[in-house]
Amino acid sequence: MSEVRVLASVSSTNDVAKEAARHGAREGLVVVAETQTAGRGRHGRQWTSPAGNLFLSVLLRPRDPAVLSLLPLAAGVAVAEAIEAQGVDGQLKWPNDVLVGERKIAGLLAEASTDAGRVDSVVLGVGVNVNLRASDVPAEIAGVTASLFEETGRTHDVRTVAAAVLDRWVLWYDALQADAETVRRTWRARSVDWWGQAVEVVSGGQRVTGLARDIDASGALILEGADGATVKVLSGEARALRPTRTS
Ligand code: BTN
Repeated sequence: MSEVRVLASVSSTNDVAKEAARHGAREGLVVVAETQTAGRGRHGRQWTSPAGNLFLSVLLRPRDPAVLSLLPLAAGVAVAEAIEAQGVDGQLKWPNDVLVGERKIAGLLAEASTDAGRVDSVVLGVGVNVNLRASDVPAEIAGVTASLFEETGRTHDVRTVAAAVLDRWVLWYDALQADAETVRRTWRARSVDWWGQAVEVVSGGQRVTGLARDIDASGALILEGADGATVKVLSGEARALRPTRTS
């Protein structure tokens, strides 16, 4: 990591890192904040950001565009390993959620900025529910969030979790550039066990269903449609149509 900026409260660590990128900040800049006033998740959702959780963004300037689509998967592996070190076994749900059972313990938001048609930088935002209590979140999502605190019954040091995420991230970012297949395989081994089950993906207002078969070399989800044809899904919000097996 070239520089780590630790801040008290920001709108969103992704915004701070993106602004730094516009001003020429180098790859490896890390922005960590104690709280966010406008933390955001995928699909324009709000990310609840009270103190005691981890809000972190890393600025990347990938030289090889081929790695872009696998960045969130590599980051998911890094986060799953980091929380495992805290005694919590998380599973990865395509494309980039970290779950405990059916509940979400961490999320990733990769935002690319382009210049003259090519990706100039990517800000990878990581949110981990570290010491989150059910009372911290709106009632409608209380049943679908998990935290290290709730899973282990003890508080966790946010800085320790941040350091573990960054350690694992450095390793998996290198692995991604050297041998992307290792990332794909490791992600698959840590994924929720919905393989062979019916899955629905909503993407850009379209709904696609099929049996989950695999993820391909570019990180796309491969479904088998009702007619047996292979459907490749590049992005979207996925859910198993029956409860997933998570052991
Ligand atoms: C999701 O699962 O929808 C993605 C959540 C990403 C949240 C993190 S917290 C740090 C960074 N800053 C943000 O505003 N969002 C990401």
